[in-house]
Amino acid sequence: MQTQIKEITKESLKEAKKIIENGGVVAIPTETVYGLGGDAFNDTAVKNIFEIKGRPSNNPLIAHVHKDYDLSKITDYDPPYAKKLREAFLPGPLTLVYPSTGKVSPLVSCGLNTLAVRVPSHEGAQAFLRAVEIPIVAPSANVSRHVSPTSAEHVFDDLGGKIPLILDGGECQGGIESTVCDCTGEYPVILRSGLVTREMIEKVVGTCGEYTPDLKSGEKVKSPGVLYKHYAPRCKTMLFSAKNAKNAKNAISAYIAENLENKGVAVLCEEKRMEEFEKAGAKVLNLGKNQAEMAMRLYKLLREAEKLCELLIVVEPEETGGIMAGVLNRLRKACTSEDVK
Ligand code: TXA
Ligand code: MG
Repeated sequence: MQTQIKEITKESLKEAKKIIENGGVVAIPTETVYGLGGDAFNDTAVKNIFEIKGRPSNNPLIAHVHKDYDLSKITDYDPPYAKKLREAFLPGPLTLVYPSTGKVSPLVSCGLNTLAVRVPSHEGAQAFLRAVEIPIVAPSANVSRHVSPTSAEHVFDDLGGKIPLILDGGECQGGIESTVCDCTGEYPVILRSGLVTREMIEKVVGTCGEYTPDLKSGEKVKSPGVLYKHYAPRCKTMLFSAKNAKNAKNAISAYIAENLENKGVAVLCEEKRMEEFEKAGAKVLNLGKNQAEMAMRLYKLLREAEKLCELLIVVEPEETGGIMAGVLNRLRKACTSEDVK
């Protein structure tokens, strides 16, 4: 199959709509990462999305709707705090999980009785969702477990030849996936951290929990996505906490000494640390100097690293509050399955 990349115009939206109506899939930009979209009501389309990505069949999908879509068509219960969250943050990078009316394909929520709904703020995404006028399920448009895509080219690198159309809406400004927040209980609970932070949610509704699965209890995991190693670049990785940056320097020399034929060692770190690692003989990828910049650049740099080096050494930024919760969560999932050094 030939994959076309097209700017968002009346014509390309028409084409996208036709593909969706025929049960096909289209990659779309959002303010967080690119998504691989299909008709949420169509079993075949949903099945295709899982197949194309190689996604585990128990990891549910988010339904995307435009900002005037009538939520009562697909969700069953709307607690007052969810209304407050919508008013404060939507359209934007916050996904809310509601009890489902069961109207979308049963494959969307993988057996859960809930439905995750997101109203993206990206203009191109809104235009597309208005054109199709149905909920579109859209996981990130990468091969499962690879780094999420923040440009049309990233989508093409992963899914070129497998999908007919990528709508090109430029580089994603957010850079990490939406915050996923459960709205089925007494107060909201964050299932996946992101650009809308716990602090921001607490300011609006008072209380906000954070979910960590207790695997020993045998309880059904609320958000299966939290279990998987994710976002991983296709090179070796080592992760160091900010306070262990000295050990990262030793790791560079040790790796180079032990692997004389190596194809390069790169370090991903915040801007203020660049010089010390350049001196240590590594190529350095600049994550940035503030939180928003670090979120926006993260996936792009992880994709650059896999082309550039054999070993990527990541040194965590010092800051931990705000959207760093999301950034650190992605870095850790990308780079280790073990403890941080
Ligand atoms: O920013 C985003 O959210 C992007 C863009 C494309 O919109 N989408 C995205 O989708 O990141 P995906 O499929 O890569 O991640 C969806 C996450 C997974 O962790 C999944 O487990 C969780 O949302 N999820 C989906 N439906 C759920 C549900 N009903 N209950 C709990 N978690 C759910
Ligand atoms: Mg994903």
